Amino acid sequence: MSEQLIQDIDILGEKPKVKESCDYKISKDTHTGKSRKLYIESYGCQMNFSDSEIVTSIMEKEGFDTTSQFEEADVVLLNTCSIREKAEITIRKRLAQFNSVKKEKPDMLVGILGCMAERLKEKLLEEEKIVDLVAGPDAYRDLPNLVSRVDDGHKAVNTVLSREETYADINPVRLNSNGVTAFISIMRGCDNMCSFCVVPFTRGRERSRDPQSIVAEAKQLFEQGYREVTLLGQNVDSYKWARDAETNQKKGIEKSEAKDIVSFAGLLEMVAEIHPDLRVRFSTSHPKDITEDVLWTMKKHENICKYIHLPAQSGDTRVLNLMNRTYSREEYFEKVDAIRSILGGECAISSDMIAGFCTETEEEHQATLSLMDYVKYDFSYMFYYSERPGTLAAKKYEDDIPLEVKKRRLNEIIDKQREHSLERNQEAIGKTFRVLIEGQSKRSENQLQGRNSGNKVIVFDKKNYAKGQYVNVKVTDCTGATLKGEIVD
Ligand code: SAH
Ligand code: SF4
Ligand code: F3S
Repeated sequence: MSEQLIQDIDILGEKPKVKESCDYKISKDTHTGKSRKLYIESYGCQMNFSDSEIVTSIMEKEGFDTTSQFEEADVVLLNTCSIREKAEITIRKRLAQFNSVKKEKPDMLVGILGCMAERLKEKLLEEEKIVDLVAGPDAYRDLPNLVSRVDDGHKAVNTVLSREETYADINPVRLNSNGVTAFISIMRGCDNMCSFCVVPFTRGRERSRDPQSIVAEAKQLFEQGYREVTLLGQNVDSYKWARDAETNQKKGIEKSEAKDIVSFAGLLEMVAEIHPDLRVRFSTSHPKDITEDVLWTMKKHENICKYIHLPAQSGDTRVLNLMNRTYSREEYFEKVDAIRSILGGECAISSDMIAGFCTETEEEHQATLSLMDYVKYDFSYMFYYSERPGTLAAKKYEDDIPLEVKKRRLNEIIDKQREHSLERNQEAIGKTFRVLIEGQSKRSENQLQGRNSGNKVIVFDKKNYAKGQYVNVKVTDCTGATLKGEIVD
């Protein structure tokens, strides 16, 4: 989930610029005169960035202002990722920097949140002594209490995972927001057991959030001027909310006519109906779970963006079985065919791929490349396999593909994706797209940038337009990562 919006396939060798790597966001500065200052930095997926907005909300209520300078903070929090070994190495380096500042400023509290906190629990505090506080992803309501325990000279750890917590009632403080696009968590945890993946262990059991609270959050964002929301979950297609009998009774709904279950397609429709000018995106779709209902709902509503992140991970059925992805190569193709036949070729599709999973042969790697040829993804996030302690793969299979082979295979996957991204972008030349303006282009003050429904970044001359507006842009040129165009309104 993905930062789902980093589209460039800027993934070279060992330094992948990917959605769950070392990307971080620093909290904004608030100056409301509160007594203590909080600095928060986030790593990993969009879910983690979203959680940091919940944490900030909880801490602001506790009397904290936020700062973008960690040196001036009383409390420094790192919201961490464990997805690959590299993510954890980056975080450890950052912790070392914080601890060197702490030497001069011993009252500064350094805390670790998120997936690495959940995975390593007390270890960072008790054995390594590099943090003062550890809070797992379901323990953020307890943060004020944990901070005051540290203030009182105690150790503070809470890594209890919950089956219910969705933070539904907490109004996130939007950090680093462009004021136009926002993310809304619709569920937490994951019940799939992909053998390579640490997420089910760090995030716990899957649970869905009350649809009314999701719609209320999206409505409020729209009223504040936001024009796009992305609904987030590790596996959005298994979103399911069972309205309880009591709620039905309160609302005067007869049992016989009660709509007791809200599915993901149902939720998508509820959010799409808020306003035609509010775009809706979602991520991540699991190939085993995405339904035709979702595809038809997308087709029915113009404002549901025609873009699906549908991670394949591998193109070979034996490897997919070892990964416990629960679909075959052929079943994956069937899902892609359904997308193309219901939504047409303009619906963008992206993927995640893992090179060099345990026992992967050269032929099986070729199957991944040929799957990519079949789908022609608009873009992909690509990684080489990194064994994670405690996962099913770490327990059952040997991590037997040499690093050079993993890297070579990854580079072949990246090269293939580069070709396809360019090809898909070239197909857009001459076409006109409705673009939501997100702000100034990174390269020039005189240009704006936004995305089309298919999630492609388009750069164009500013004229008199501003962020938050929709414009029609005709594409005139492209690179593999960006489209260039001109406003044709
Ligand atoms: N829930 C999402 C993905 C979450 S993790 C899904 O099911 O697709 C994001 C991506 O990181 C995964 O899709 C996978 O490609 C990659 N990933 C996860 N564990 C990994 C590991 N151990 N080594 C390399 N890449 C991994
Ligand atoms: Fe991990 Fe699989 Fe769950 Fe995605 S669906 S978070 S890859 S276990
Ligand atoms: Fe996200 Fe990383 Fe955790 S990808 S769910 S922050 S392990």
